Amino acid sequence: MAEAKNLGVVGSGQMGSGIAQLGAMHGLHVWLLDTDPTALYRAKKSISSSLQRFVSKGQISQFSLVHYFTWQAACTEALGRLEYTSNIDELRSADFIVEAIVESEDVKKKLFIELDKITKSSAILASNTSSISITRLASATSRPCQVIGMHFMNPPPIMKLVEIVRGADTSDETFHATKALAERFHKTIICSQDHPGFIVNRILMPMINEAFFTLYTGVATKEDIDTGMKLGTNHPIGPLELADFIGLDVCLSIMKVLHAGLGDSKYAPCPLLVQYVDAGRVGRKCGVGVYDYRKGSEPIKA
Ligand code: NAI
Repeated sequence: MAEAKNLGVVGSGQMGSGIAQLGAMHGLHVWLLDTDPTALYRAKKSISSSLQRFVSKGQISQFSLVHYFTWQAACTEALGRLEYTSNIDELRSADFIVEAIVESEDVKKKLFIELDKITKSSAILASNTSSISITRLASATSRPCQVIGMHFMNPPPIMKLVEIVRGADTSDETFHATKALAERFHKTIICSQDHPGFIVNRILMPMINEAFFTLYTGVATKEDIDTGMKLGTNHPIGPLELADFIGLDVCLSIMKVLHAGLGDSKYAPCPLLVQYVDAGRVGRKCGVGVYDYRKGSEPIKA
């Protein structure tokens, strides 16, 4: 398969905006689609400031655009490769689509049905899902051999890993094209079978859920839980801080997939996590989660 030139990214939240940025930094023409114009506006601002940070910090090796006279010009060129839209028809000429919308199987399936209808027949449809079955998403389309999991880590421009997940019918050609794209983005690849939560979230989410249980049952304060895991196990960020960064809504959705898919009560979401999400306390993206960021705490910058 020829190298992808045109990238479609669906969902312009934390992940989609970062994936679109990566595409633009590495020379692809990118359409970033969201149904919410406010999300597109936020994405445009955050991509622009993230690219400027790479340039001002001299982290120029992050770009593939080495032939530019100045890095500022490379940054401007990357911004020019991005188009923002709410019209799905604009993805018609994309060679490769990465879906990064809400972590819900039903919503993702509806989108895959639509993408299958409007994209060219050779296009690969990848999902950035954290936990949902690629085989089931693929079965909603007429091209299951061209559907694959391409799971970036948060924030995508910084984190080195991409977890690739083949569905039951994913072809070798689709796998190699996905691997080539991840390598073009300078990522290290791991491969997982299509099981709930794949590798990273199968291990990470139960730990985060357990941190919530530790808080819920009064074993310790949130600060001591996070400090314990940072200084006691050398994690760069505590599990509750990390949950706030990922989004408590995303964490809860993943725990529900693990619980339903693996059928073991040890994966039952902690009631405190459920309650926070019910209350709309979904983490940094809304200003409050386990911690309250409205009091002046600086967000983690990509
Ligand atoms: P988010 O909540 O920041 O963004 C989701 C975006 O999708 C929103 O802007 C929303 O308006 C848009 N959207 C929802 N339905 C749509 C549709 N039908 N068409 C177009 N746009 C639609 O979510 P986030 O955190 O970026 O997560 C997105 C996906 O990435 C999820 O599947 C999640 O599990 C996965 N993921 C999340 C990570 C994280 O740390 N937050 C890490 C790795 C994967």
